[in-house]
Amino acid sequence: MSPAIRHLIEIDDLSPDEVLRVLDLSASPDRPGLLAGRTVGLVFEKPSMRTRNAMEVAVAQLGGYPVTMQGQEVGLGSREPATDVATVLSRYHALIGARVNDDITVRAMATVSRVPVINLLSDRSHPCQALADLLTLRNLWGSFRGRSLTWVGDGNNVCRSLALGAAAVGIDVRLASPGGYGLDPADLASIRRFGTSVETFDDPTAAVRGTDAVCTDVWSSMGHEAEAGVRRGAFSGWTIDARLMSLAAPDAAFLHCLPAHRGEEVSSAVIDGPQSAVWDQAENRLHTARGLLMFLLDKDRRVITKATWDGLPRRRPT
Ligand code: CP
Ligand code: NVA
Repeated sequence: MSPAIRHLIEIDDLSPDEVLRVLDLSASPDRPGLLAGRTVGLVFEKPSMRTRNAMEVAVAQLGGYPVTMQGQEVGLGSREPATDVATVLSRYHALIGARVNDDITVRAMATVSRVPVINLLSDRSHPCQALADLLTLRNLWGSFRGRSLTWVGDGNNVCRSLALGAAAVGIDVRLASPGGYGLDPADLASIRRFGTSVETFDDPTAAVRGTDAVCTDVWSSMGHEAEAGVRRGAFSGWTIDARLMSLAAPDAAFLHCLPAHRGEEVSSAVIDGPQSAVWDQAENRLHTARGLLMFLLDKDRRVITKATWDGLPRRRPT
């Protein structure tokens, strides 16, 4: 991986200050023509609505053109290796985004790419969602200081990235999952390295008491469809309903990355109720996509200083 190029595979590829910088860029009305005359390549191995729209619109807002490909048509890992795909795409585009089944795929793409690679969701991480969630919370709270966030449900890709990002910006993190569905000890150690309080629970009631935000996601993520029945059993009693929300702080926000399954992980009364921030979260996917592109492309531009450029080997004109 070239040290000069910045990728976003997991949220902690950004330092805490850089996360805040991306949030500032996302909240700014500025839309510089950073991508004028340039393109971004987006590859999707799994379905997407928000992520695809947010990235495509953000690229257009910065003056560029998005080229979106389905994993099947590209044959990522089947027609040709993901590294060959990334090597070629990085010669066409200013930046690559990839939503992949296996985290290893997007990491491999970053090792060969000449341009920034963004993880648009893998089985392990969803850093773009974490940025949108943090922007949503900062807009609600004004600052992160002294705030706590509680995850209730599957310790999945969205949970891992949000917990890491929240701890990085100073939010206390509580994680509640049924036995066997929580984050593993290595992830918890990684989240704890930022120094905020990180607590785990096997009971949602104790976890949400007095918290400032209650966050969840589906019980069965993409790729876990075959386990849906078993998971429905394991998560029985873990629905976030009005009773559970009433234990949180009176103005606690409810967050969900969407798509949601009303009646499973959340009741209609909560997701469609006054404490729900899910539509702002979804809108913030666009603003943070734009902020992230501005951050990564600006870094990219600064790498190619005149001195660096003058030192690059050139082919002599023939
Ligand atoms: N939240 C999210 O990533 O939505 P999509 O799967 O629709 O992109
Ligand atoms: N955890 C979910 C998130 C979807 C945006 C999944 O991976 O399917």
